Amino acid sequence: MDAARPPLDLDAHFPEVAQISDPALAGQVRAVWAELWARSEFPDLAAVPTSGEIPYPNVPHTRSVTALALAMAEVLARFHGTRIDRDVLIAACLLQDASKLVEYRPAPGGGIEKTELGRAMPHAFEAARIAAQHGVPLPVLHIIATHSPSAAKLPETLEGRIVYLADELDVTAIHRDQFVKEQILRRR
Ligand SMILES: [Fe+2]
Repeated sequence: MDAARPPLDLDAHFPEVAQISDPALAGQVRAVWAELWARSEFPDLAAVPTSGEIPYPNVPHTRSVTALALAMAEVLARFHGTRIDRDVLIAACLLQDASKLVEYRPAPGGGIEKTELGRAMPHAFEAARIAAQHGVPLPVLHIIATHSPSAAKLPETLEGRIVYLADELDVTAIHRDQFVKEQILRRR
């Protein structure tokens, strides 16, 4: 880690953080990113990829997931009157991939590689752990921990389902189709 590296100006990279109406939650989101950034070996945020398999940069991916999720929530509210917690949705979108900063690092021969933590722990575990330490509320932690198809469980809230689908849709757009049909119909 470069000790001379300047601190992260999160709002410059993710102006969506200012859309969180609760100043305490917005501050927690900034604090989580600041802590993970301080531990990251990436030289700048633009060098962080969407994932080890997806070289597309993470910042536009995360911003797109946030915008998609907000649009989905607005459409559902307009046509069905569903209510979601907008602060929870935005905070979850901005934090779901934050631990990529410490799950990966630049590889000596170019590209990226997983860190020891990235190999040892499930994706997003560290973001959820640090977020919990900063007091981020449980509904946001739930989404961070369940947003990935690799997670041990599915999201159980509407906000969580929206983030999950927004993330998968964005990955389909920037990388490749993620959808696999395993059964003709399986519903509860
Ligand atoms: Fe993720």
